[in-house]
Amino acid sequence: MDIETVDFLIIGSGVAGLRAAIELAPYGNVLVATKDVPTESSTEYAQGGIAVALSDEDEVGIHFDDTLKAGDGLCREDAVKILVGEGPERIMELISWGAEFDKNGTRLDFTMEAAHSRKRILHSHGDATGKELERVLLNKVRSLPTIKKYPFAFTVNLIVKDGECYGAYVLKDRKLNAILARSTILCTGGAGQIFARTTNPMVATGDGAAIVFRAGAVLEDMEFVQFHPTSLYSPYAPHFLLSEAMRGEGAILRNVNKEPFMKQYHPDAELAPRDIVSRAIISEMVKTESNHVFLDMSRLDNDFVKKRFPRIYATCRQYNIDITKDLIPVSPAAHYMMGGVRTDTDGATNIKGLFAAGEVACTGVHGANRLASNSLLEGLVYGARAGKAASEFKIQDSKFKNSELVQYPSGYHSIPDHDEIRTTLRKVMWDRVGIIRCEESLVEAKNKISGWSFILDKAFFTRRELELKNMLTVAMIITETALMRKGSVGAHYRSDYPEKGEYRQRHIACRKENDAISCNFGMGREKV
Ligand code: SIN
Repeated sequence: MDIETVDFLIIGSGVAGLRAAIELAPYGNVLVATKDVPTESSTEYAQGGIAVALSDEDEVGIHFDDTLKAGDGLCREDAVKILVGEGPERIMELISWGAEFDKNGTRLDFTMEAAHSRKRILHSHGDATGKELERVLLNKVRSLPTIKKYPFAFTVNLIVKDGECYGAYVLKDRKLNAILARSTILCTGGAGQIFARTTNPMVATGDGAAIVFRAGAVLEDMEFVQFHPTSLYSPYAPHFLLSEAMRGEGAILRNVNKEPFMKQYHPDAELAPRDIVSRAIISEMVKTESNHVFLDMSRLDNDFVKKRFPRIYATCRQYNIDITKDLIPVSPAAHYMMGGVRTDTDGATNIKGLFAAGEVACTGVHGANRLASNSLLEGLVYGARAGKAASEFKIQDSKFKNSELVQYPSGYHSIPDHDEIRTTLRKVMWDRVGIIRCEESLVEAKNKISGWSFILDKAFFTRRELELKNMLTVAMIITETALMRKGSVGAHYRSDYPEKGEYRQRHIACRKENDAISCNFGMGREKV
């Protein structure tokens, strides 16, 4: 096994990982490990924008209130205060590094999205906001000689002894390497790929949540998965995201009989919170016995639509849909994990020397349902904070010796039908643990997933198999926590318990105990 020693190891290269790396650069050498190329992350595909209280009509306090309301009683208020309070500074810094946000004349142009009470979403090149953030952050990273990128390196496990993290085992070119680091920051993003329908890129397989679970970290709020109401529905197309900003600019939802329906479900109609819009769409699909509804932009000015949503326009054209005049077939898709590894407001986890930021982390800013366009902001704010905290961290009197590094088992495992299992798992999760859940569907899912548990203790050498092992772990945790929450809060909806229930304001924390998942209702938000 090759051993490489760095000061800081960052796993993942989306907005949180890159921002953390930039923060760490003055304090030592930083290695950014990614399982694919550095640009391949959910950040790259984020369309709608980034929420920030910077317009003349807005205030940080209003952004705070909107975030709390969307979170349905489970946001951690001190974490939200930091998010909305430090957000403006992080955005101005990004602009000083060259980020170009769309303008109206000489002023920044803010748009509207669901559950925001002000126009507060900045966007770039119309609907390519994440791509712009990734471009600027990667340029900044390139200018800092202490940061090294390490692509196509799959993090298999963390190196943890006695509750302290010393780095990670990374598989590269089918060879296991140990990267030893003073502190490690996990920024691996989400797990949308465990569902058959998702807006997430192929890399979003829940790797971070699975590896911290194996290492003994506490995960929280895992039952809260956000389903985006509008992804492109076509047998020939991927589940391409159709940004909420389209509804923010005036697009209307119609059922397959071309009737608008959102006003019957919520006074804010198309701009109701995402969970309500997603469930309304499912309800219309059931009523009309269809597998989609339509998004209609035809009443908006054609040139405006093309200019405001160039990427969506071009993508839909490839599938023969002209969004300026055609009804666009859409249906919901898994989009974002509110839960993740529990951190404090500096990104610290319960494992010393291990930090987390971005979608893989659960800082508590999103509660039970994330306010639209708060995620890129979270990546920037908490990526920087985790970077700062990691730069100050040092394990006192380390007792870890390189001789304790665990060699990869020599027996080479392969599962011939792993792609078939992946497809079935994704379908089970979508059908049984999706937008509308109940005891029966969740127990069925649990039984099915348990049947694949023989995969969990195997060592693999291919990315697909390693991903499958992680997907199974995360799927099992989501199913267990969804079963445990007998109530409907935020994005978690139980048709057998439609009320919020007794534990409405308590988080479910889980960790590995004797090779099983142990889940508990915490008393609100305890200290990490
Ligand atoms: C969107 O553009 O609709 C996605 C934005 C988000 O998920 O915050």
